[in-house]
Amino acid sequence: MVSTLLEQGWITSDAVRAAFAAVPRERFAPEASAQAAYAADDVVITKRNAAGRATSSISAPWLQAAMLESAALRPGAQVLEVGSGGYNAALLAEIVGPSGRVVTVDIDPFVTERAARFLAETGYGHVQVVLGDAEHAAHAHAPEGGFDAIVVTVGVWDVPWGDLLAPGGRMIVPLRFATVTRALTLVPEGDHFAAVEATVCGFVPVQGAGSFQDQEAELAKGAVRLTRETGPSLDVDALERALTGERTELWTGVTVGRGEPFDSMHLFLASTDDRFGMIWADHERGGADLVDLALRWSCPVLITPDSFAYLTLRDADSGSGERRLELGTHGHGPAGPALAEDLRQHVLGWDAGWRARTDPHFLLYPADAAVSPPRQGKIYVKRHTQLIMSWDEDQRKSTR
Ligand SMILES: C[S@@+](CC[C@H](N)C(=O)[O-])C[C@H]1O[C@@H](n2cnc3c(N)ncnc32)[C@H](O)[C@@H]1O
Repeated sequence: MVSTLLEQGWITSDAVRAAFAAVPRERFAPEASAQAAYAADDVVITKRNAAGRATSSISAPWLQAAMLESAALRPGAQVLEVGSGGYNAALLAEIVGPSGRVVTVDIDPFVTERAARFLAETGYGHVQVVLGDAEHAAHAHAPEGGFDAIVVTVGVWDVPWGDLLAPGGRMIVPLRFATVTRALTLVPEGDHFAAVEATVCGFVPVQGAGSFQDQEAELAKGAVRLTRETGPSLDVDALERALTGERTELWTGVTVGRGEPFDSMHLFLASTDDRFGMIWADHERGGADLVDLALRWSCPVLITPDSFAYLTLRDADSGSGERRLELGTHGHGPAGPALAEDLRQHVLGWDAGWRARTDPHFLLYPADAAVSPPRQGKIYVKRHTQLIMSWDEDQRKSTR
C-alpha cells in the first residue's frame, strides 16, 4: 500500500510515509480481509443505515494520504479530526509525535467506542476520542490559540470550525456545493479563508445539526438517483416514467482521452446552469442497465421536475490509434430533448472556452460578510459561511 501511494504521488513527505508504514491499518478494520484493508484506493465500510447507505467507513488510503499531505503537520502540532474511525487519528498521532495532540470527534457511539478501543490496542491511547456532534462538540476541546490543523473526514455542506483554527493553520474540508464535493485545503487570509488546493473526492454525508438534504429523486427502487441542491420540487413519479420512457441521444464531437479527468466541466456546469445536479447509478441494483453514465458512479445532469438529461460517452475514432471517447447527452421525459440539447451546448461551450482554463479558485467568507459576486463563477450561501467559486483572475489567491 505504501509503495503504491508513493508511486501514485499521494505520499510526498517522509513524515506521511513513516506514519503509513507504522500504523497497522488492518487493526482498525477487522471486518475486512488484509487485502481489502490495504487496497490503496478502497474504503472499508464499517456501518450502514437502514436504507443500506454507508454512514461510517475507514477512508481510502489515497485520500487519507492526500489530506495528510495537505495538512502539512509538524511534530508538536495540535490537530482536530472531525469524523473518527481510529486509523486516520493514529496516522495524525504518528506525525505530530508525543509532543503533539490529536482530538477526534464522532457523532456515533458505535464509532467512538471502536475507535477508542483500536487506538488503545495499537498504542495510540493518548488520542482524545470525543463523542458528540462536531457542529458544537469540538469547541470545548480547542486549545486557547486554536488548532494548528483541522482535518474533516466526513462530507460537509458548511464549515462551522473557522474560529477554532490557529492563525497560520490549515483546514482540510470535503465541502459539498451544488451536489459536488471538493476537499478544500483552506488557509486564513484576512477576513476569509482561501483554498490552496481542491481535490475531487467523496465522503459519507455529515449527520446532525450540520446536515443538509439535497433534493433527491430515487428511481427504479434506488437503482438510479437524481440529486439537485435547489430549485422546484421534483416529481418522482414523472421522473420514474421519464426514466423508462423514450430517450433522446445527442453527440457533441467533443472527445476526452481514456482516463482523462473532466471534472472542471462539472464546476463549469454548476456555475452556468441552475438545473445542474448529479445522477447516480447503483450497480448492485441494476442501475447500469438503465442509464449509460459518462462516469461509473455519478455524473452531471440537468434536472427539471419531470425530465432530465445526463452526460454519456461512446468510443470515438481518433484516427491516430489513441483510444478517445466522445461526449454525448441522453435526455428523458417531456423536456428531455430540449435538456439534452442544452447540455450538448454546454459541453461545446466548455470545450471552446473553458476546457483549457485553470480550475476555479475557492474563497470562504462568514455568512454575513459583504462580498462582491465573481464576474465568472458563483456564490453558495450556507448557514455559517458563503463559498465563492470564481474564475476571476484578480480574486485568485496570492499564496497559491
Ligand atoms: C468516513 S468516516 C471517518 C473516517 C475516519 N476518520 C478514518 O479513520 O478513516 C466519517 C465519520 O463521520 C461521522 N460523522 C457524521 N456526522 C458527524 C458529526 N456531525 N459530527 C461528528 N462526526 C460525524 C460518522 O459517524 C463517520 O464515522
